[in-house]
Amino acid sequence: MSRYRKIFNRIFASLLLLIVFLSFDQKTFAQNGEVLFKANCSSCHKPDKDFTGPALKGARDREPSKEWAYKWVDNVNTMATADPYAKGLVAKYGSMMTQQNLKVEEIKAILDWADTYTPPGPPPGTPVAEPDNSMLFGILTLVLGLIAFILLQVNTNLRKLSDEKEGVLRSEPVPFYRNKIFLMTGILVLFTVAGYFFVNAAIGLGRQQNYQPQQPIYYSHQVHAGTNQISCLYCHGSSQDSKTAGIPSVNVCMNCHKAINKYEGPDKLVREDGTAVNGTDEIQKLYSYAGWDLKANAGKGTYNPDNNGDGIPDGAHPIEWIKIHNLPDHVYFNHSQHIKVGKQQCQTCHGPIQEMPEVYQFAELSMGWCINCHRETKVDFYNKADSTGNKFYSIYEKFHEDIKNKKLDSVTVEKIGGTECQKCHY
Ligand code: HEC
Ligand code: HEC
Ligand code: HEC
Ligand code: HEC
Ligand code: HEC
Ligand code: HEC
Repeated sequence: MSRYRKIFNRIFASLLLLIVFLSFDQKTFAQNGEVLFKANCSSCHKPDKDFTGPALKGARDREPSKEWAYKWVDNVNTMATADPYAKGLVAKYGSMMTQQNLKVEEIKAILDWADTYTPPGPPPGTPVAEPDNSMLFGILTLVLGLIAFILLQVNTNLRKLSDEKEGVLRSEPVPFYRNKIFLMTGILVLFTVAGYFFVNAAIGLGRQQNYQPQQPIYYSHQVHAGTNQISCLYCHGSSQDSKTAGIPSVNVCMNCHKAINKYEGPDKLVREDGTAVNGTDEIQKLYSYAGWDLKANAGKGTYNPDNNGDGIPDGAHPIEWIKIHNLPDHVYFNHSQHIKVGKQQCQTCHGPIQEMPEVYQFAELSMGWCINCHRETKVDFYNKADSTGNKFYSIYEKFHEDIKNKKLDSVTVEKIGGTECQKCHY
């Protein structure tokens, strides 16, 4: 057995080495500017073009000093009122950057990546493929396993040969497929692998990142919220003060579309599969849902008469929009908590909606996704010294003490209980 043990020990050691090596590789990857950029900045910045915020390419060369950007990203709120260059930017871009909590080397990695960025990147909306080492892992494990097996076979045969030569009689060795150790190990490995895939698949049930159904009307957020700059809140106003963001009623559409009956905009309308869409026909569909007769009233259009007395124009019926985002019933999520109190941008969670001809689900909506943000995001903590911030938090005496004593410089959502199970689960 000692020979076996030696061989097993060697294999085990080399596997361990491999694991260590691969995890190092993952760590260096965490510093990859592109990944960091996509996770934290891409909702407002493009590397080479101005967007909600300025292009990041060459930012450090434009700024008052090479170190300015590192200070800015971590102190947005104070610098926006105190720093003259920052004030200029805020005036020019009209919206405020949200505070990012990154290390200097992470910000540096992002800006370095942006500086060397060249345009032919993936088209917008393509999900970032995270590098997947599991394939490499699997193949290496298989190869190592095979080598171990061959070595063991060679070992058995050599022993048999030497035994024969020396005339030692031993009982016939058990072939590997009847060897209990082999069988048990095989079954164990099979169970572990199958269990891993089974649990992963079960957790992923009902998740639908990138889901992009075809809606009853080809209604383009790019045309409305992008090109025509209609505020999200015009149609999803309840996100300010209620749990749901809501989908606008046909009435809201008709506020504008009584007058706008043709599509002549600059954006080409195409579906995901490449087929062209006629915008004017799509507006016509809206009219049939609204019970609006475009030809009546001397070509100005009017609602159909209500002959059947049900209180709505004859023929009008609701638009059956297909729901895209859908958390499981055991999760509580509230928009107003995040938008009004948490001051989060729609795009942080929903992606660049204003560039989407057809909406797709941008975020994974997994529990890890919620929790990660709660761990990293600071709340607008009440500052007793100058009475700024959300007064609600004046009740957290301990944190005020810690901030005063410089034990703490900010309070994250996690600290106020944002990772407690019962906050998110019914
Ligand atoms: C919610 C939108 C938003 C996010 C997210 C965001 N920014 Fe910004 N950023 C802006 C805006 C807007 C400005 C312009 C100043 C202002 O109005 O606040 C800006 C300005 C900047 C500037 C100054 C650029 C210049 O021309 O000098 C840098 C550098 C910067 N951001 C880096 C980052 C980095 C790095 C990240 C990700 C870690 C990030 N930003 C995430 C919106 C955002
Ligand atoms: C003119 C009205 C209008 C405006 C403005 C508008 N939306 Fe929408 N939004 C809709 C309608 C109608 C739907 C349902 C059809 C669809 O999914 O495309 C919708 C769907 C959505 C969905 C997917 C809902 C689901 O089913 O899960 C999200 C997310 C969303 N909008 C976010 C935004 C954001 C963010 C903005 C601002 C950048 C915005 N919307 C601006 C009308 C509007
Ligand atoms: C605040 C005004 C406004 C509201 C509200 C509005 N639209 Fe529009 N809509 C426009 C404008 C502006 C255009 C572009 C017209 C052009 O460029 O010729 C447009 C274009 C369209 C088009 C053709 C382009 C495309 O996106 O396919 C459709 C279809 C359409 N709207 C449907 C809707 C629906 C459905 C709603 C309600 C959920 C709605 N609109 C609400 C202003 C509005
Ligand atoms: C912190 C992340 C987050 C932010 C910020 C956010 N949403 Fe959502 N949104 C979600 C989640 C999660 C859902 C799914 C809710 C569900 O299924 O119960 C959702 C669902 C929606 C829906 C589908 C209808 C509904 O209410 O379930 C619309 C429309 C929508 N969001 C629009 C917006 C708009 C507009 C903004 C900005 C004003 C915004 N969201 C900001 C996370 C966010
Ligand atoms: C982009 C960051 C972000 C994401 C993603 C996010 N949240 Fe939050 N969440 C916040 C912030 C910021 C607050 C704190 C608001 C405040 O100041 O009270 C908050 C607060 C909450 C609270 C109240 C916590 C308390 O102690 O009062 C709940 C509940 C919550 N979030 C649920 C969710 C769920 C469920 C999801 C995932 C579907 C989610 N959040 C995803 C940023 C986020
Ligand atoms: C910030 C919000 C949040 C908090 C805090 C939270 N969860 Fe979740 N949890 C979610 C969301 C969102 C899902 C749905 C994930 C999905 O659909 O895949 C979920 C799903 C689950 C599931 C179903 C399995 C799965 O991953 O889909 C279990 C079990 C669960 N949570 C347990 C817990 C426990 C136990 C705690 C406390 C330690 C907790 N959760 C705290 C948001 C939260």
